[in-house]
Amino acid sequence: MNRIPPALGHLLPTTLAFFTPQSGGSPNANSIDSLYKITLYVALVIFVLVEGALAYALYRFRARKGAVAAQIRGNTRLEVGWTTGAAVILLGLAVLTFAKLSSIQDPVNSSAENEHLVSDGARLYASAERKLPPSGKSLNITVVGRQFVWQFVYPGNEPDGLGAPYSYEEMVVPTKTTVTLDIVSADVVHSWWVPQLGGKFQAVPGYHNYTWFKIEKPGIFRGQCALICGRGHARMIATVKAVPPAQFEAWLAYQKTLIAEANAAAQVARAKLGSQIGAGQVENP
Ligand code: CUA
Repeated sequence: MNRIPPALGHLLPTTLAFFTPQSGGSPNANSIDSLYKITLYVALVIFVLVEGALAYALYRFRARKGAVAAQIRGNTRLEVGWTTGAAVILLGLAVLTFAKLSSIQDPVNSSAENEHLVSDGARLYASAERKLPPSGKSLNITVVGRQFVWQFVYPGNEPDGLGAPYSYEEMVVPTKTTVTLDIVSADVVHSWWVPQLGGKFQAVPGYHNYTWFKIEKPGIFRGQCALICGRGHARMIATVKAVPPAQFEAWLAYQKTLIAEANAAAQVARAKLGSQIGAGQVENP
């Protein structure tokens, strides 16, 4: 039995991880990663075969004294062979990609014990493009790109649409819960990308883009605006922090309290200002 030395056993996965997509945070990111790897392995085999044959021919048939090159014109069987071979490989990869696509695009259900956290996403906006899990329920967060910070707006607003809890830079989400994202922009085009949680999506003014993730274990996932959007582009970092559901609910309640307190303080300040200069002069009371 041939045993691979431990150092070498680590080298290959480490090298491959450098060249393949980041994953491990969410099922869709894992599907992207495995699809990429299948294509990569097929391409690697073909690369080694072609380059190997080329190197062999260069050496075996190199110029030597007295050697006369054979003059070959066409070989129907070989030509039909490699054309068919390439077509079959291409077709195979295409079929595989389309078969895998739904596991990347379609959100999965939240784990049953977290059903109380999620709601029917159709409540907020109607859209043909937004995909929901089979149960129709997800925790829907609106991601707002703005120069130069990411804002995350959570459900839980008043019937008038105001007072929704929100946060900046750090998105806190519950584990084992399907989170759908509505990605929008307040100014220019930004790009939402947390590599371990799936693909890249642009935040385009006037449009909604949709993606999703589901994180199994608590953890922190880092991302960064992936499209140059102005001089503060480098500062547009995004962190997704997955916490147990109970901790998430406590956090969300706390955010609501903070926002309510800030609104109350603003109201007091406005009233004070109004009494000083006369209410009629305060715009947008
Ligand atoms: Cu926002 Cu780059």
